[in-house]
Amino acid sequence: MTVIIFTVSVLCLLPQEVLARWACVRACPPSCTCTQEKSCSVLCDRSGLAELPKEFPCEASAINLDKNRLKFLSERAFGTLPSLKSLSLDHNNISFITPGAFKGLSNLVELKMAHNEYISYLHTRTFTGVKKLVHLDLSDCNLFSIPDRIFIEQTALKELLCFQNNFRRIPGAIRGMENLTHIYLERNKIEAVAYNSLLGLGSLKYLNLQENRINVIHEQAFQDLTRLENLYLNDNLLSDLPKLAFKGLSRLKMLNLGGNQLTNLSKTWFSDQVELEVLYLDRNQLLYIEEGTFENLTSLITLHLNSNNLTTLPFPVFQPIYFLGRLYLFRNPWECDCSLEWLKEWMENYKLVRDIPCASPSSVAGLDLGEVVFAKVNGTCVDPADLNLTTASSEITSTTENRFKSLIFTLIHPEFGDQMGNGTESLRNGTLIESEDGQLSAGVTGQRAWPSESLFCFIVMWLSLGLIGQSDLFFSLYCT
Ligand SMILES: *[C@@H]1O[C@H](CO)[C@@H](O)[C@H](O)[C@H]1NC(C)=O
Ligand SMILES: *[C@@H]1O[C@H](CO)[C@@H](O)[C@H](O)[C@H]1NC(C)=O
Ligand SMILES: *[C@@H]1O[C@H](CO)[C@@H](O)[C@H](O)[C@H]1NC(C)=O
Ligand SMILES: *[C@@H]1O[C@H](CO)[C@@H](O)[C@H](O)[C@H]1NC(C)=O
Ligand SMILES: *[C@@H]1O[C@H](CO)[C@@H](O)[C@H](O)[C@H]1NC(C)=O
Ligand SMILES: *[C@@H]1O[C@H](CO)[C@@H](O)[C@H](O)[C@H]1NC(C)=O
Ligand SMILES: *[C@@H]1O[C@H](CO)[C@@H](O)[C@H](O)[C@H]1NC(C)=O
Ligand SMILES: *[C@@H]1O[C@H](CO)[C@@H](O)[C@H](O)[C@H]1NC(C)=O
Ligand SMILES: *[C@@H]1O[C@H](CO)[C@@H](O)[C@H](O)[C@H]1NC(C)=O
Repeated sequence: MTVIIFTVSVLCLLPQEVLARWACVRACPPSCTCTQEKSCSVLCDRSGLAELPKEFPCEASAINLDKNRLKFLSERAFGTLPSLKSLSLDHNNISFITPGAFKGLSNLVELKMAHNEYISYLHTRTFTGVKKLVHLDLSDCNLFSIPDRIFIEQTALKELLCFQNNFRRIPGAIRGMENLTHIYLERNKIEAVAYNSLLGLGSLKYLNLQENRINVIHEQAFQDLTRLENLYLNDNLLSDLPKLAFKGLSRLKMLNLGGNQLTNLSKTWFSDQVELEVLYLDRNQLLYIEEGTFENLTSLITLHLNSNNLTTLPFPVFQPIYFLGRLYLFRNPWECDCSLEWLKEWMENYKLVRDIPCASPSSVAGLDLGEVVFAKVNGTCVDPADLNLTTASSEITSTTENRFKSLIFTLIHPEFGDQMGNGTESLRNGTLIESEDGQLSAGVTGQRAWPSESLFCFIVMWLSLGLIGQSDLFFSLYCT
């Protein structure tokens, strides 16, 4: 009798924490370790388990079973664990989950089952009883689809990770889940975004559909995503978009359309994106940008137009974007004629642009736009190709150093043309520059290789100009 009383009184004297630690550790399954810090964590990862332990401590709040060899989850596989908040089953070999497997985990918030490459099917009642789930990770499994009603009880779900599966369409199960904030569906085989695929997702902030096979986006498919901030549609098969593709997405901060097959940019596409800060349009086949396309992008900081088929960039297309921080234009066949003179000036004034290698006209092919000197006749720019030596030489004013250089450039141009037919290769000192996002760009950093006759000509002209003054005609005769 006295012994019992003694024991009870000792137990009551122990602080609550110590009791909890004792309970957590006492019921720890073999081949797992259990720790009680703020709550009871059960660590059974990398333990070679082929079957689940029979029992877990009933106060377990986190269980980690990653990297075992689990194959099968039976009904109520974990028993009743009312304190369990987080369960991780990543990197196992689970191929079948019995309906109701997670029953008894009524307070589960986070469930991770990524990298189980044999899960190809989930029953409608897989998640029955798990009503507080907020974060669900099913990435890198082998799912082709999931039942439309599978999340019927998971109304609190905020983050759904399903990347790297075999989905051919956006799962209908997510429709109307108004608490979802993040959806990861990248690296699947999705072919279209239907008008009703994304209905009722009013809290969604992040949607990743990159690296799918999307070739069609239906008109206003994104219309309910009024809180969306990040939209990834890159590396798909889009060759066109509906007129009002992004209508209503006024909170969008980042839109990635890179790596598609777009040829034209329409001014109707980005009309609502007043908060857009970063726009990726790289790695498409853009030939044409409609005037007004970027008109309403008043918050834009970075624009990626590199690796397209652009030859020119009309000034009115860019006029309204004064505060652009970075503009990526490399890997386009730029035609560096007078229509790009504004860009060169802009580039020099704001230092906003990275390299702009010229593909044509042939006289400047291989140079960077920054190195091209535009000739002026009577104050207006004259395209290098159009400049007619005999007439031009008497009219070009060579008052500033720039104009003088452009005169020389123009005069000696024919020699270049003939001797170094392969302007692109011979004139450029190409170095590979890695840009912020890891893409390589061809940068032109070298100087033009001057043939010795031209150099001589240059020196003669320079001296003559200083000594004699008006002698343009003399130069042209002498040098040609
Ligand atoms: C995983 O499961 C599949 C099918 O259920 C089986 O073929 C494979 O051998 C298993 N792999 C391991 C490592 O147990
Ligand atoms: C969203 O979550 C809140 C609480 O987290 C809940 O009250 C609400 O019912 C949920 N919405 C839906 C559609 O279930
Ligand atoms: C792209 O724009 C050009 C010029 O307006 C037009 O001729 C062409 O048909 C357009 N192409 C597409 C695919 O819309
Ligand atoms: C820019 O926004 C205004 C006001 O919402 C709209 O009237 C206009 O059509 C938009 N411009 C473009 C090019 O869409
Ligand atoms: C863009 O250029 C690439 C090669 O430079 C070419 O294969 C492709 O057909 C071009 N696209 C268009 C739409 O002109
Ligand atoms: C340049 O200006 C002069 C006189 O101002 C004029 O005679 C000449 O025709 C002009 N040339 C061109 C190409 O406009
Ligand atoms: C260049 O000048 C010659 C002779 O004056 C003329 O025949 C030719 O048409 C001119 N070419 C151009 C492109 O103006
Ligand atoms: C131009 O360059 C290409 C490839 O770099 C080469 O095949 C071709 O022979 C060159 N042509 C001349 C005239 O040098
Ligand atoms: C390019 O320029 C760099 C330095 O500017 C030099 O070290 C390199 O040898 C040059 N390469 C060629 C191919 O001229």
